[in-house]
Amino acid sequence: MYTLATPTRDQCFRLIRQIGMPPHIQRHSLMVAEISLYLGRLLKVQNPGLDLDLLQASALLHDIAKAPSLVTGESHSELGAKMLDDLGYMQISPIVKEHASMEADRLIGPITESLIVNYSDKRVKHDQIVSLEDRFCDLMDRYGKTQEHKDRIWSKLGLYLALEKKIFAQLPIDPGGRELMSLSPQNHAGIESEHYDWEKIESGVIGRWQIRRA
Ligand SMILES: [Fe+2]
Repeated sequence: MYTLATPTRDQCFRLIRQIGMPPHIQRHSLMVAEISLYLGRLLKVQNPGLDLDLLQASALLHDIAKAPSLVTGESHSELGAKMLDDLGYMQISPIVKEHASMEADRLIGPITESLIVNYSDKRVKHDQIVSLEDRFCDLMDRYGKTQEHKDRIWSKLGLYLALEKKIFAQLPIDPGGRELMSLSPQNHAGIESEHYDWEKIESGVIGRWQIRRA
């Protein structure tokens, strides 16, 4: 096993192209990275240990396994962490692994890169910045099939609202303020992959990964 340095923005883009990330997931990831970096820069004042390069790379790559997971049936966060471990990006994989879940005990302690990516992801519906409530209404429409599922989704919203409160208690802006709501991705010309090939995904090959079917 080896560990590589945190990839730069350009290296992340190259990886995104190599694995053939679908354009709509690229656009979503760019927006999550934009919010993450915006919040990260502001939060660094009170949290000097925050690593903005790690934050950016983790946000850009957090959904790296979204498309392949549709084929394998695995959780996209688990598979994404595995892919990043295989590549040697050991510092990113834990952030990707926990980006889709939230437990109360994670609200105790300092604000980390992982919490920022997780929160920013919940502020982006497709590639649009929305409120947590809007994002969770969307999740409810898509995944709230039973009362149990609905209860679970609403309890998670409560945790994310608590996380939002924790983050913005340190900032001079509001979660719905114009500064944040008007962000748009920068410097992303050329990221969109021409190599995205659904047939390739169906055949079980993504970049260097042989995807195991469920
Ligand atoms: Fe995401």
